[in-house]
Amino acid sequence: MIRVLFVCLGNICRSPTAHGVLLGRLEEEGLSTQVQVDSAGTAEWHTGKAPDPRSQAAANDRGVDISGLRARQVNEDDFHIFDYILAMDRSNFSDLMEIYERTGGTRPKLFLRAFGRSFDEHEVPDPYYGGEAGFRHVLDLIEDACDGLIADIHQTLAGKP
Ligand code: 4NP
Repeated sequence: MIRVLFVCLGNICRSPTAHGVLLGRLEEEGLSTQVQVDSAGTAEWHTGKAPDPRSQAAANDRGVDISGLRARQVNEDDFHIFDYILAMDRSNFSDLMEIYERTGGTRPKLFLRAFGRSFDEHEVPDPYYGGEAGFRHVLDLIEDACDGLIADIHQTLAGKP
């Protein structure tokens, strides 16, 4: 089993979006039984909440239902459970690196820098204080990097380095 954890700040916009998009892509690829997906926030403010309605709407427009996801905060155990820990922006990444330096385990990666293909951007920008276009752009960036991630997962499952 391969385990993937997406991490943003609040776990109500970007990381649940990535969580839902990857689940859909895994289903299409016939990989659902081999890969587990979760998402978390570096902050605990929104623990227990459903994704932001604007993220739910933007995901729905791409055929992805994220309404059932609930927010939680990332914790030290995650670093020993997940094989991929993928940060949405540099601030999330540096918060995760602080935990990693204490606990070891899986080294976090900046999601777009590691797996993005078509965009010249290395961060998924926080859409929370912006308009609808920002939420659509989050989907564009995440769909693109999920393709790169799926390719990497295929390689891992095939036993290649
Ligand atoms: P996320 O977006 O990190 O993509 O879930 C945010 C959600 C909430 C807040 C900031 C960013 N907030 O300030 O409450």
